[in-house]
Amino acid sequence: MPRLQSVPPVTRNRSLLDTRLLSSEEIVFLFAQSSELEKLANIHGNFYDPATSFSRKTVFCLFLEPSTRTRLSFEMAAHRLGHRVVLLDVGSGSSRAKGETDVDTVLNVLAMNPDLLVIRYNRSPELDELLPSIEVPIISGGNATSAHPTQALLDAFTIFREKNHTENLRGERVLIVGDIRHSRVARSNFDVLLKLGAEVGVCGPKAWLPDQDEIKGIRIFHNLDEAMSWPSVFMGLRVQIERHEDSEEDSNSMRDFNDQYGLNKERLKLLSSEALILHPGPINHGVEFTKEVLLDPRSRVLKQVSNGVLIRAALLADFLGARKLGK
Ligand code: CP
Repeated sequence: MPRLQSVPPVTRNRSLLDTRLLSSEEIVFLFAQSSELEKLANIHGNFYDPATSFSRKTVFCLFLEPSTRTRLSFEMAAHRLGHRVVLLDVGSGSSRAKGETDVDTVLNVLAMNPDLLVIRYNRSPELDELLPSIEVPIISGGNATSAHPTQALLDAFTIFREKNHTENLRGERVLIVGDIRHSRVARSNFDVLLKLGAEVGVCGPKAWLPDQDEIKGIRIFHNLDEAMSWPSVFMGLRVQIERHEDSEEDSNSMRDFNDQYGLNKERLKLLSSEALILHPGPINHGVEFTKEVLLDPRSRVLKQVSNGVLIRAALLADFLGARKLGK
């Protein structure tokens, strides 16, 4: 019978707002927890043994920016752990439409005593200051262009499993391509991948590369065709028009993007047959990837989504206490 360890790896930090608080050992331990939960689900259909008792908790999901994968996978993970979910997202008619601030929204949600808060929000120095001081555990579902910790964890977990690693990601060369400057996914991935011993490279339009101090220890490629033989993992990123400042320049850039930096039929031929293809989603079809890419046997884009449920369930299980799962 699979058994989850009762000492959580991440709760010493109280919340998970950024992967920089995690050690490589904690990350690999989280991967092991995720695999154990999957074994439980294979036996019982859920992430717990129905013969064991546990205290049902309430997870509030507060999405102040749109989401499909992150929001639904947190909900799925919480339900399959046997917990309750209360959801507020920007599309569900919240009092933000009446001008309520994000800080007031969070304080009101906390006044209802959730056991854990999952939050996605856009740039907010006030929330950046408030969240670390809150007693209730908080897991970030993505914060502006700063951090998307659970996405980076599920990306690394996907590489770890698909490439049969057991301790770290040494030997992997991960090429992150596209709109890196505006990507919280890239920033969290730099941290997690380097910590686990992978080599990391970036390739994208000069205007969309991050500042030099953000890419210390990272290889920069300017020509994607020349870079294609390097990676063992190709990670496309969404071009984030909504975070760009000059929309006219963007529409030109989008048109040119696939020619210079997109993955397409010709570039698939230049990528190693052993490589993996990842993308956090949502995909701009014909921009980052043409239609052949998701059908390619090297694509693990939907596997990332499945793994996202496991990683988020492992985090929830840890933060919600040392529940006895299994006998
Ligand atoms: N990868 C990701 O964060 O997707 P969503 O915006 O749909 O959650």
